[in-house]
Amino acid sequence: MKRINENGEYNMVKSPMKKDAYLKHFQERQEEYRRVQQDPLRLQYHIQPPMGWLNDPNGLCQKDGIYHIYFQYCPFYPELGSIFWGHMTTKDFIHYEEQEPAVYSDTPWDCNGPYSGAAYQENGTVFFFYTGNVRYEGDYNYVTDGREQNTILITSEDGFHFSEKQLLMRNEDYPADMSKHVRDPQVFREKERYFMIQGARSVKDEGSILLFESEDLRNWSYKLRFQPEQPFGYMWECPNYLKIGEHKFLLTCPQGVPANGYDFANVYQCGWFALDYDFESTDYRLGSFHQLDRGFDFYAPQVFKDEAGRWILLGWMAVPDSGYEEPTLENGWVHALTIPRELYVNEAGCLCQRPLKELEGLRGKRVCGSLEKGLHEATLPCFELTLNLKAAEDFMLHIRESALLFYQNGELVLDMSGCGKGRTFRGLKISKIWKLQIFSDTTSLEIFVNDGEEVFTSRIYDSMESLEIRMDGQELSGSWEYDSCGK
Ligand code: FRU
Repeated sequence: MKRINENGEYNMVKSPMKKDAYLKHFQERQEEYRRVQQDPLRLQYHIQPPMGWLNDPNGLCQKDGIYHIYFQYCPFYPELGSIFWGHMTTKDFIHYEEQEPAVYSDTPWDCNGPYSGAAYQENGTVFFFYTGNVRYEGDYNYVTDGREQNTILITSEDGFHFSEKQLLMRNEDYPADMSKHVRDPQVFREKERYFMIQGARSVKDEGSILLFESEDLRNWSYKLRFQPEQPFGYMWECPNYLKIGEHKFLLTCPQGVPANGYDFANVYQCGWFALDYDFESTDYRLGSFHQLDRGFDFYAPQVFKDEAGRWILLGWMAVPDSGYEEPTLENGWVHALTIPRELYVNEAGCLCQRPLKELEGLRGKRVCGSLEKGLHEATLPCFELTLNLKAAEDFMLHIRESALLFYQNGELVLDMSGCGKGRTFRGLKISKIWKLQIFSDTTSLEIFVNDGEEVFTSRIYDSMESLEIRMDGQELSGSWEYDSCGK
């Protein structure tokens, strides 16, 4: 089922739902819920919907030592189609606790779904800003009419209990040349003022990030829009701003960017721009756009700073409208989030992602060896494999049953045609490979190249039996470490 039709309309979001109605439905579906938990395709160490549908991570924050991970959640997909904010908590990113959904579609401002949003913390209070989606019934195009995108605030002192909803902005508060697609707020503080960014589509079909400012977190005024000199897609979703040292970045998900060889090969894109801006004037400079991920299944990531000061990213392990088969659908659930990744800036000033240190706690039995002696191991579906390559010779890495990662003539290609359910090839040009770190879960693969300078994220659907890892190549030199992964 396509999530968004040609009019930009969300097929699955139909009816509003209040908490009581949700709890009643949940009670009635206990058997289905238990069946989902027993599905052998369930992931072992990723966040996935307790049942039904999951998309973007939302409201990410750490409060009093507990990480709160909210997400776009439709427990009864595809039968009912009402979106909520689902909720998981963790202290270590290994053990997760499922919580009751946090935000329902229970006001006139978000009656067709509390869409994506982010958290901002100050003096012990968490402020969640999100988009209330409202879709009118009738003959509308849902791009320039028929839709409200309301900016809503809720607060929480503990991440579990929430204030009343407060409506902050509606369509008429956005710039006059905007379509009815303005959403996914994120708030931060710079130069002793509050700023909010929102993803946007103009009536001319140009994507941008809108910047608003405020002195009290409640009254917002429009300041400017971030946009490259040449239009880059018709809509930008899920913007994030982050600052690591003196490096400022904007992340966003542009839609409508044409494919160009290995670049922009997915239906919608996701990446970052270096930002040069003082948050006072109206002059800014955006660097070029870099893709955050080179695989088939990565979109709508959200970043946050934890209590230890680390910038952590979680993404949605899917791309909307990609059209791939998802065998889990038959078993009552679909999609998942990526593993958590810590962001850092490399010597070239590029934003890179490495698996969060906590994931070392998943490591089970370790086997290591030198590549000179070859690599050929039988494996279970869940493992972590690290290759430290001394020489950047051509190679072919066989992963599990039939996934292939090969490096030839300065191109690194992931071939999933044997196990991708519609996923075929993705690749990139890269002059040297010195490290590969692969996280495999029952039905997912995340491949970090050169300490996360590039990443390939994909779902994988193979037999999960008689799996192996094998590396072939010329004059391979280096070492490998293999760990089975489990809780
Ligand atoms: C991105 C997105 C957001 C929106 C949400 C709705 O995947 O389309 O722009 O807020 O999903 O579920």
